[in-house]
Amino acid sequence: MRTVLSNKETQKLQHIAIIMDGNGRWAAKRGMPRSLGHKKGAERVKEVVQAAGELGVKYLTLFAFSTENWQRSPDEVNDLMDLLRQYLKSEITELQENGVRIMFIGEREMLPADIRALMKQLEVETQNNKKLTVCIALSYGSRQEIVHAARKLATLAKRGDIKPDEIDTKVFADMLYTQEIPDPDLVIRTSGEQRLSNYLLWQIAYAELYFSEVLWPDFDRAELEKIIENYNKRERRYGKA
Ligand code: FPP
Repeated sequence: MRTVLSNKETQKLQHIAIIMDGNGRWAAKRGMPRSLGHKKGAERVKEVVQAAGELGVKYLTLFAFSTENWQRSPDEVNDLMDLLRQYLKSEITELQENGVRIMFIGEREMLPADIRALMKQLEVETQNNKKLTVCIALSYGSRQEIVHAARKLATLAKRGDIKPDEIDTKVFADMLYTQEIPDPDLVIRTSGEQRLSNYLLWQIAYAELYFSEVLWPDFDRAELEKIIENYNKRERRYGKA
């Protein structure tokens, strides 16, 4: 198997976060309904999870559904929910075999009850897997996450459980949905759009950004390897000289 990460490089690139964009345009280019673009996109999720594990990436965070996506047509929202249901039901065996732990970030209370139950089940059943953690952002918005964290801290302060002076970046980060995982090293957005769209805004303070022209349903292992090679050539300084 070809890997593009040496041990040293693996240390450098632990966490990749992806904005999977372009499903609709991929379908439109072929005269197909948007739902087919999403279906093809879901197949790419499987391939990229497999490739990331094989390449030695430790964390992969995928933007599957944003808080803003609730404003799409009811038909499209239903199609996306159906795809998620299918994915959550069908992937468990393969995820277990590949040592993948699944976790979710976002406003779960907005999601249908059966999907919430499947999410919980997957999280519990894969919780001891160590090779790769796949974090799926579902009904996720970064500003909402930050407000949620601020509310939690305000409640703790009001109860006298924390002093305002004790709140620092570490304490704040521990209030976010991502408290268990390190910050992304690299953010990839597909489809040529150059925006962050309310994705992990706190967590990507020092991340490298890569905007790929490839539409998500065409994204594959070769493109991922190309991006990792590009990342490996960059010099990260975290504000130091
Ligand atoms: C953006 O394409 C993509 C989404 C809104 C959803 C991403 C979902 C998947 C890849 C499939 C389901 C996910 C999992 C984890 C099974 P777009 O519709 O905004 O594309 P456009 O900008 O070309 O219209």
